[in-house]
Amino acid sequence: MSKSLIVSGMRSTGKLHFGHYLGVLTNWINLQKDYDCYYFVADWHALTTKFDKTDELRADVENVVLDWVASGINPEKSTIYLQSLVPEIAQLHVYLSMVTPQNWVERDPTLKDMVKILRGDSETEEKPSNICSYGLIGYPVLMTADILTMNADYVPVGSDQLAHLEISRDIARRFNNIYGVELFKEPKPKLTEVPLFKGVDGQKMGKSFHNDIKISDTEEDTSKRIMSGITDRSRMRKTDIGHPDECEVIFDYYKVFAPEKIETVAQECKSATRGCADCKRELCGIVNEYFKEIREKRLELQSKPNLVREIILDGSDRARQRAKEVLKQVKDAVKMYY
Ligand code: TRP
Repeated sequence: MSKSLIVSGMRSTGKLHFGHYLGVLTNWINLQKDYDCYYFVADWHALTTKFDKTDELRADVENVVLDWVASGINPEKSTIYLQSLVPEIAQLHVYLSMVTPQNWVERDPTLKDMVKILRGDSETEEKPSNICSYGLIGYPVLMTADILTMNADYVPVGSDQLAHLEISRDIARRFNNIYGVELFKEPKPKLTEVPLFKGVDGQKMGKSFHNDIKISDTEEDTSKRIMSGITDRSRMRKTDIGHPDECEVIFDYYKVFAPEKIETVAQECKSATRGCADCKRELCGIVNEYFKEIREKRLELQSKPNLVREIILDGSDRARQRAKEVLKQVKDAVKMYY
């Protein structure tokens, strides 16, 4: 029996951080065992909000793929590809956009949030009215085209993407109904409910918050970031009794990277035998050890000229094979078969 097919993508945001690794990549890596996985970099989706900032686009794409492969997405097992190298996705987007009622996209709460962030929340703030493009409104339709060009069974996503995916299922059903075919499956979400991984400042980890630790960061940078983390403010000296609850973030890092140490750490903190600086210093070692192999592999991949490019081109070729077949069926269904 053939394996179920999985499609998922990430926008080309450049070098990935620990939040991406723990929240998305570890899951993608595990799925490779049981599914036929198609993972792509959504560079057209990046354009929906950054159409005027494309200087770094190519480097961003390559950095994302380097992080994937170094982390354990295996290009021999999974199909790694670039959205813009599979033009069938854009073609399918045109067909799907015709059958998608306008109010379906306008209602999409995730899209509304994106528009809000882009325009700025404040009513007094002057933002050009042309910041929100026609392409951005089509975001969920383009995402549907990504999924349906591969006719995926499952789409691993975070809960923020569920609203988009619901539209995808509606569009798939509507296309089938209108043209009287049973072409598209209704793609099901595969939820990855991992708790949000925070930056050491306690905020959500993200490039825009300047609190992210990247997979590709050096050990020194990683340590610097961790040492800057907030700890128990009421504790001035090591001999003061500590409150592990006040160090939520540092503690969370221990939970993720060294769960077996957590009891000892709490115990030593509460009995004032472990100082905050020592505690963070130990954590630096643990975290750097955790990412050591991945980082070494990344450097190795990076040192081979053209390797990432070849991985992307090769995967995109494979993705296109499948996309072409689906697109032919779409055109037949719509009766456009010259
Ligand atoms: N919208 C997704 C995100 O921001 C990225 C994405 C684009 C995607 N196309 C997709 C995810 C198709 C899954 C399937 O995370």
